[in-house]
Amino acid sequence: MIVIEGLHKSFDSHSVLKGVEFHIDRGDSAAIIGRSGCGKSVLLKLIIGLIRPDRGEVRIGGKIINDLSERELMTIRRKFGMVFQGAALFDSLTVAENIGFVLSREKTLTPGAISRKVDQALEMVELHGTRDKKPAELSGGMRKRVGLARALVYEPEIILYDEPTTGLDPVVADSIDKLIQKVSRQLEITSVAVTHDMRTAGRVGQKILMLHNGIIYIQGDADKLFKSTDPVVHRFVNGISDPKDATFKN
Ligand SMILES: Nc1ncnc2c1ncn2[C@@H]1O[C@H](COP(=O)(O)OP(=O)(O)O)[C@@H](O)[C@H]1O
Ligand SMILES: [Mg+2]
Repeated sequence: MIVIEGLHKSFDSHSVLKGVEFHIDRGDSAAIIGRSGCGKSVLLKLIIGLIRPDRGEVRIGGKIINDLSERELMTIRRKFGMVFQGAALFDSLTVAENIGFVLSREKTLTPGAISRKVDQALEMVELHGTRDKKPAELSGGMRKRVGLARALVYEPEIILYDEPTTGLDPVVADSIDKLIQKVSRQLEITSVAVTHDMRTAGRVGQKILMLHNGIIYIQGDADKLFKSTDPVVHRFVNGISDPKDATFKN
């Protein structure tokens, strides 16, 4: 479903991705982990064609997306649901309006049909009775659920999560992880979550890919990563700082 080959991306002289390669099969759920600033969000943007690579290839469902026109990209992006880090909801709109926003704008469905889709999506994320609330009235976990419902309403084939649990307390984070698992199982969606949280990665990713120094440093299930004797992997999964790493000396 998603095939990445030799992906390079720099910003000015700062080389972020230096030959990233991996593939994710249809229906699988993967987690991409790595330290803050290692390029996880950049990688997601490359996957949906929001930014273009310097070198390398992104193939979605067999189609190379790198050289597509903006118009062709729109068709590919229709396959994707994206759940952004900060939920990115419109404060002035209700939950239902937020979820149905793009569908209403497209005007291909009747208001009644949109309303039914919104209710189905709210049902899936277990948020009953919130359709007329404003985002400000919701907790952080509930806002994440609305963000997910907004992605689900387009019936995506692939769903991408950017830091789905960052900023949530561990119990709420666990409930979001369970929801992500439920969604990928019940709707048979291919899912990719990027996160710096190893706990979330272990729960939502059948396959975990660790991005480090611009490449996929190791991949496998959570057990493989936890048992790894590689010092970089060992420190990351156990949350241990590297005494040689200057960024931690403050
Ligand atoms: N549009 C951009 N212009 C310049 N630098 C960028 C841009 N987007 C990301 N970067 C840099 O790329 C690196 C990786 O960023 P990002 O993918 O956001 O990291 P994270 O793994 O925390 O999501 C960072 O050093 C960031 O400053
Ligand atoms: Mg990020």
